[in-house]
Amino acid sequence: MTLNRYAFFNGEIVPIENAKVSVMTHALNYGTGCFEGIRAYWNNDAGELYVFQLRAHYERLLRSCKVLQIVLPYTVDALCETTLELLRRENFQSDVYIRPLAYKSFEGIGVRLHDISDAFTIWALPFGKYIEKSEGLRVATSSWRRIDDNAIPARIKATGAYINSALAKSEAMQNGYDEAIVLTQDGHVSEGSAENIFIVRNGVLHTPGLTDNILEGITRHVVSQLATEELGLTVVERSLDRTELYAADEMFFCGTGVEVTPVVEIDRRPIGDGAIGPIFTQIKDLYYAATHATDPKRREWCTPVYEVVAAER
Ligand SMILES: Cc1ncc(COP(=O)(O)O)c(C=O)c1O
Repeated sequence: MTLNRYAFFNGEIVPIENAKVSVMTHALNYGTGCFEGIRAYWNNDAGELYVFQLRAHYERLLRSCKVLQIVLPYTVDALCETTLELLRRENFQSDVYIRPLAYKSFEGIGVRLHDISDAFTIWALPFGKYIEKSEGLRVATSSWRRIDDNAIPARIKATGAYINSALAKSEAMQNGYDEAIVLTQDGHVSEGSAENIFIVRNGVLHTPGLTDNILEGITRHVVSQLATEELGLTVVERSLDRTELYAADEMFFCGTGVEVTPVVEIDRRPIGDGAIGPIFTQIKDLYYAATHATDPKRREWCTPVYEVVAAER
Protein backbone atom coordinates (compact mmCIF):
# COMPACT_ATOMS: atom_id res chain seq x y z
CA MET A 1 0.00 0.00 0.00
CA THR A 2 1.38 3.43 -0.89
CA LEU A 3 1.41 6.08 1.82
CA ASN A 4 0.23 8.80 -0.52
CA ARG A 5 -2.49 8.87 -3.13
CA TYR A 6 -1.92 11.99 -5.24
CA ALA A 7 0.68 14.23 -6.87
CA PHE A 8 0.55 17.62 -8.53
CA PHE A 9 1.77 16.80 -12.02
CA ASN A 10 1.51 18.65 -15.36
CA GLY A 11 -0.64 21.38 -13.83
CA GLU A 12 -3.19 19.27 -11.95
CA ILE A 13 -3.62 16.95 -9.00
CA VAL A 14 -3.63 13.38 -10.31
CA PRO A 15 -3.54 9.89 -8.76
CA ILE A 16 0.08 9.15 -7.81
CA GLU A 17 0.23 6.21 -10.24
CA ASN A 18 -0.37 8.63 -13.13
CA ALA A 19 2.54 10.91 -12.17
CA LYS A 20 5.21 9.24 -14.33
CA VAL A 21 8.09 10.47 -16.52
CA SER A 22 9.87 8.90 -19.52
CA VAL A 23 13.31 7.28 -19.24
CA MET A 24 14.36 9.90 -21.80
CA THR A 25 13.68 12.80 -19.41
CA HIS A 26 16.58 15.26 -19.40
CA ALA A 27 16.60 15.60 -15.59
CA LEU A 28 16.82 11.83 -15.13
CA ASN A 29 19.76 11.59 -17.53
CA TYR A 30 21.69 14.74 -16.58
CA GLY A 31 20.51 15.69 -13.07
CA THR A 32 18.99 18.96 -14.30
CA GLY A 33 16.40 19.62 -11.65
CA CYS A 34 15.99 21.39 -8.35
CA PHE A 35 13.75 20.61 -5.43
CA GLU A 36 12.63 21.44 -1.93
CA GLY A 37 12.06 19.45 1.20
CA ILE A 38 9.30 20.94 3.33
CA ARG A 39 7.83 19.58 6.53
CA ALA A 40 4.31 19.83 7.84
CA TYR A 41 3.62 18.99 11.50
CA TRP A 42 0.45 17.50 12.88
CA ASN A 43 -0.70 19.25 16.05
CA ASN A 44 -3.10 16.85 17.74
CA ASP A 45 -4.45 19.38 20.27
CA ALA A 46 -5.34 21.82 17.50
CA GLY A 47 -6.46 19.04 15.13
CA GLU A 48 -4.45 20.86 12.49
CA LEU A 49 -1.58 20.22 10.09
CA TYR A 50 0.89 23.14 9.89
CA VAL A 51 3.35 23.60 7.03
CA PHE A 52 6.58 25.11 8.34
CA GLN A 53 8.20 28.01 6.47
CA LEU A 54 6.15 27.32 3.35
CA ARG A 55 6.88 30.62 1.56
CA ALA A 56 10.60 30.56 2.34
CA HIS A 57 10.90 27.15 0.67
CA TYR A 58 9.18 28.30 -2.51
CA GLU A 59 11.21 31.51 -2.59
CA ARG A 60 14.33 29.35 -2.50
CA LEU A 61 12.93 26.99 -5.14
CA LEU A 62 12.42 29.90 -7.53
CA ARG A 63 15.99 31.08 -6.85
CA SER A 64 17.24 27.56 -7.64
CA CYS A 65 15.14 27.60 -10.84
CA LYS A 66 16.71 30.90 -11.90
CA VAL A 67 20.22 29.41 -11.70
CA LEU A 68 19.12 26.35 -13.69
CA GLN A 69 17.13 28.43 -16.21
CA ILE A 70 13.93 26.64 -15.29
CA VAL A 71 10.92 28.87 -15.86
CA LEU A 72 7.84 27.91 -13.86
CA PRO A 73 4.50 29.51 -14.70
CA TYR A 74 3.70 29.94 -10.98
CA THR A 75 4.14 32.63 -8.34
CA VAL A 76 5.22 31.82 -4.79
CA ASP A 77 1.60 32.36 -3.70
CA ALA A 78 0.31 29.92 -6.30
CA LEU A 79 2.89 27.30 -5.31
CA CYS A 80 1.90 27.63 -1.65
CA GLU A 81 -1.79 27.31 -2.49
CA THR A 82 -1.22 24.25 -4.70
CA THR A 83 0.72 22.59 -1.90
CA LEU A 84 -2.12 23.19 0.54
CA GLU A 85 -4.62 21.82 -1.98
CA LEU A 86 -2.56 18.65 -2.41
CA LEU A 87 -2.31 18.14 1.35
CA ARG A 88 -6.07 18.64 1.74
CA ARG A 89 -6.74 16.03 -0.94
CA GLU A 90 -4.44 13.61 0.89
CA ASN A 91 -6.13 14.50 4.18
CA PHE A 92 -2.99 13.64 6.17
CA GLN A 93 -3.30 13.63 9.95
CA SER A 94 0.37 12.97 10.75
CA ASP A 95 3.71 14.65 10.23
CA VAL A 96 4.41 14.99 6.51
CA TYR A 97 7.35 15.59 4.19
CA ILE A 98 6.57 17.56 1.02
CA ARG A 99 8.71 17.31 -2.10
CA PRO A 100 8.30 19.98 -4.81
CA LEU A 101 10.52 19.23 -7.83
CA ALA A 102 11.20 21.45 -10.86
CA TYR A 103 13.04 19.79 -13.72
CA LYS A 104 14.07 19.77 -17.35
CA SER A 105 11.43 17.60 -18.96
CA PHE A 106 12.84 17.58 -22.54
CA GLU A 107 13.14 14.03 -23.88
CA GLY A 108 16.29 13.77 -25.97
CA ILE A 109 20.05 14.15 -26.18
CA GLY A 110 21.95 17.35 -25.38
CA VAL A 111 23.56 18.73 -22.24
CA ARG A 112 22.35 22.30 -21.78
CA LEU A 113 19.93 24.38 -19.76
CA HIS A 114 18.54 26.71 -22.41
CA ASP A 115 15.79 26.13 -24.98
CA ILE A 116 14.44 22.94 -23.44
CA SER A 117 11.15 22.32 -21.69
CA ASP A 118 10.57 22.52 -17.95
CA ALA A 119 8.08 20.75 -15.68
CA PHE A 120 7.04 20.80 -12.07
CA THR A 121 5.60 18.28 -9.64
CA ILE A 122 4.81 18.03 -5.92
CA TRP A 123 4.29 14.90 -3.87
CA ALA A 124 4.08 14.39 -0.14
CA LEU A 125 4.42 11.49 2.28
CA PRO A 126 3.80 10.84 5.97
CA PHE A 127 7.26 11.09 7.50
CA GLY A 128 8.85 10.71 10.93
CA LYS A 129 12.48 11.20 11.96
CA TYR A 130 15.17 11.54 9.26
CA ILE A 131 17.84 10.04 11.55
CA GLU A 132 16.54 7.86 14.41
CA LYS A 133 19.04 8.58 17.17
CA SER A 134 17.96 10.69 20.11
CA GLU A 135 21.19 10.05 22.06
CA GLY A 136 23.21 12.16 19.59
CA LEU A 137 25.14 11.42 16.42
CA ARG A 138 28.64 10.11 15.85
CA VAL A 139 30.04 11.78 12.76
CA ALA A 140 33.20 11.68 10.65
CA THR A 141 34.94 14.20 8.42
CA SER A 142 34.44 12.96 4.88
CA SER A 143 37.19 12.15 2.42
CA TRP A 144 34.88 13.76 -0.17
CA ARG A 145 35.00 17.56 -0.55
CA ARG A 146 31.96 19.81 -0.94
CA ILE A 147 31.02 20.89 -4.46
CA ASP A 148 32.20 24.42 -5.20
CA ASP A 149 30.02 27.35 -6.24
CA ASN A 150 31.98 27.53 -9.50
CA ALA A 151 31.30 23.87 -10.28
CA ILE A 152 27.82 23.01 -8.98
CA PRO A 153 26.40 25.75 -6.75
CA ALA A 154 25.64 24.31 -3.31
CA ARG A 155 23.46 27.27 -2.30
CA ILE A 156 20.67 25.92 -4.52
CA LYS A 157 19.01 22.53 -4.12
CA ALA A 158 20.02 20.98 -7.46
CA THR A 159 19.14 17.31 -7.87
CA GLY A 160 22.47 16.32 -9.49
CA ALA A 161 24.40 17.92 -6.63
CA TYR A 162 23.12 15.24 -4.26
CA ILE A 163 25.64 12.77 -5.73
CA ASN A 164 28.13 14.68 -3.56
CA SER A 165 25.89 14.23 -0.50
CA ALA A 166 25.26 10.56 -1.25
CA LEU A 167 28.99 9.79 -1.65
CA ALA A 168 29.72 11.39 1.72
CA LYS A 169 26.75 9.87 3.52
CA SER A 170 27.39 6.31 2.31
CA GLU A 171 31.09 6.54 3.12
CA ALA A 172 30.28 7.68 6.67
CA MET A 173 27.59 5.06 7.26
CA GLN A 174 29.57 2.22 5.73
CA ASN A 175 32.45 3.16 8.07
CA GLY A 176 30.08 2.89 11.05
CA TYR A 177 29.22 6.58 11.59
CA ASP A 178 25.82 8.25 11.51
CA GLU A 179 26.63 11.20 9.27
CA ALA A 180 29.43 12.99 7.38
CA ILE A 181 30.91 16.46 7.72
CA VAL A 182 32.09 17.73 4.36
CA LEU A 183 34.89 20.28 4.00
CA THR A 184 35.27 22.90 1.27
CA GLN A 185 38.05 22.59 -1.30
CA ASP A 186 40.21 24.85 0.89
CA GLY A 187 39.58 22.71 3.97
CA HIS A 188 37.00 24.73 5.90
CA VAL A 189 33.90 23.18 7.39
CA SER A 190 30.97 23.29 4.99
CA GLU A 191 28.01 21.16 6.12
CA GLY A 192 26.64 17.67 6.62
CA SER A 193 25.31 15.58 3.73
CA ALA A 194 21.84 17.16 4.11
CA GLU A 195 22.13 19.54 7.03
CA ASN A 196 23.83 22.75 8.18
CA ILE A 197 26.13 22.85 11.21
CA PHE A 198 26.32 24.91 14.38
CA ILE A 199 28.94 24.70 17.10
CA VAL A 200 28.97 26.35 20.51
CA ARG A 201 32.25 27.76 21.83
CA ASN A 202 32.25 29.70 25.12
CA GLY A 203 28.50 30.33 24.90
CA VAL A 204 28.66 31.74 21.33
CA LEU A 205 27.11 29.96 18.33
CA HIS A 206 29.23 29.67 15.19
CA THR A 207 28.10 28.45 11.77
CA PRO A 208 29.87 28.39 8.39
CA GLY A 209 29.07 31.42 6.22
CA LEU A 210 27.13 31.51 2.95
CA THR A 211 30.35 31.47 0.90
CA ASP A 212 31.51 28.15 2.39
CA ASN A 213 29.54 26.16 -0.20
CA ILE A 214 26.58 25.45 2.04
CA LEU A 215 22.95 25.20 1.09
CA GLU A 216 21.34 28.44 2.23
CA GLY A 217 19.40 26.56 4.87
CA ILE A 218 16.02 27.71 6.07
CA THR A 219 16.39 25.90 9.40
CA ARG A 220 19.82 27.52 9.85
CA HIS A 221 18.13 30.91 9.57
CA VAL A 222 15.34 29.84 11.96
CA VAL A 223 17.88 28.56 14.53
CA SER A 224 19.87 31.81 14.32
CA GLN A 225 16.71 33.82 14.92
CA LEU A 226 15.58 31.68 17.87
CA ALA A 227 19.04 31.73 19.43
CA THR A 228 19.46 35.49 19.20
CA GLU A 229 15.87 36.60 19.87
CA GLU A 230 14.80 34.03 22.46
CA LEU A 231 18.07 33.06 24.15
CA GLY A 232 19.99 36.33 23.70
CA LEU A 233 22.92 34.43 22.18
CA THR A 234 25.41 35.75 19.68
CA VAL A 235 25.54 33.89 16.36
CA VAL A 236 28.70 34.31 14.29
CA GLU A 237 28.75 33.31 10.61
CA ARG A 238 32.31 32.66 9.52
CA SER A 239 34.66 30.04 8.08
CA LEU A 240 35.33 27.29 10.60
CA ASP A 241 38.46 25.16 10.76
CA ARG A 242 38.04 21.39 11.10
CA THR A 243 39.74 21.34 14.52
CA GLU A 244 37.31 23.95 15.85
CA LEU A 245 34.76 21.14 15.72
CA TYR A 246 37.07 19.07 17.95
CA ALA A 247 37.37 22.04 20.32
CA ALA A 248 33.64 22.79 20.43
CA ASP A 249 31.62 22.62 23.66
CA GLU A 250 28.53 21.59 21.68
CA MET A 251 27.70 20.80 18.09
CA PHE A 252 24.44 20.17 16.29
CA PHE A 253 22.96 19.75 12.83
CA CYS A 254 19.92 21.54 11.54
CA GLY A 255 17.77 21.07 8.47
CA THR A 256 14.20 20.40 7.46
CA GLY A 257 14.78 16.64 7.47
CA VAL A 258 17.04 16.33 10.50
CA GLU A 259 15.27 19.20 12.34
CA VAL A 260 17.78 19.97 15.14
CA THR A 261 19.92 16.97 16.07
CA PRO A 262 22.88 16.90 18.46
CA VAL A 263 26.31 15.59 17.52
CA VAL A 264 28.20 14.01 20.42
CA GLU A 265 31.31 12.67 18.71
CA ILE A 266 33.45 13.67 15.71
CA ASP A 267 36.34 11.66 14.26
CA ARG A 268 36.32 9.53 17.46
CA ARG A 269 36.65 12.57 19.73
CA PRO A 270 33.83 13.50 22.13
CA ILE A 271 32.24 16.91 21.58
CA GLY A 272 32.54 18.72 24.94
CA ASP A 273 32.10 15.99 27.53
CA GLY A 274 30.30 13.74 25.05
CA ALA A 275 26.81 14.51 26.37
CA ILE A 276 24.02 16.52 24.75
CA GLY A 277 24.63 20.19 25.64
CA PRO A 278 22.39 22.73 27.42
CA ILE A 279 22.24 25.27 24.58
CA PHE A 280 21.19 22.57 22.13
CA THR A 281 18.46 21.42 24.53
CA GLN A 282 17.00 24.93 24.74
CA ILE A 283 17.10 25.36 20.96
CA LYS A 284 15.43 21.99 20.47
CA ASP A 285 12.51 23.01 22.69
CA LEU A 286 12.15 26.35 20.91
CA TYR A 287 12.28 24.63 17.53
CA TYR A 288 9.61 22.14 18.54
CA ALA A 289 7.28 24.91 19.68
CA ALA A 290 7.93 26.97 16.54
CA THR A 291 7.29 24.05 14.17
CA HIS A 292 4.14 22.87 15.93
CA ALA A 293 2.57 26.35 16.06
CA THR A 294 2.55 26.42 19.84
CA ASP A 295 4.84 29.46 20.08
CA PRO A 296 2.49 32.43 19.59
CA LYS A 297 5.39 34.67 18.56
CA ARG A 298 6.28 32.36 15.68
CA ARG A 299 2.78 31.52 14.55
CA GLU A 300 3.33 33.16 11.14
CA TRP A 301 6.00 30.55 10.34
CA CYS A 302 3.27 27.87 10.28
CA THR A 303 0.61 27.68 7.57
CA PRO A 304 -2.51 25.75 8.60
CA VAL A 305 -3.70 23.26 5.98
CA TYR A 306 -7.30 22.57 6.97
CA GLU A 307 -8.33 25.86 8.64
CA VAL A 308 -9.83 27.35 5.46
CA VAL A 309 -11.75 24.19 4.67
CA ALA A 310 -13.13 24.00 8.21
CA ALA A 311 -14.16 27.68 8.17
CA GLU A 312 -16.12 27.15 4.94
CA ARG A 313 -18.16 24.28 6.37
C1 LIG B 1 22.92 19.83 1.61
C2 LIG B 1 21.94 20.40 2.58
N1 LIG B 1 22.35 21.33 3.47
C3 LIG B 1 21.51 21.88 4.36
C4 LIG B 1 20.18 21.51 4.41
C5 LIG B 1 19.24 22.17 5.37
O1 LIG B 1 18.43 23.07 4.67
P1 LIG B 1 16.97 23.45 5.16
O2 LIG B 1 17.11 23.88 6.55
O3 LIG B 1 16.56 24.56 4.26
O4 LIG B 1 16.14 22.24 5.01
C6 LIG B 1 19.71 20.54 3.53
C7 LIG B 1 18.31 20.11 3.62
O5 LIG B 1 17.60 19.93 2.76
C8 LIG B 1 20.60 19.99 2.58
O6 LIG B 1 20.19 19.07 1.70
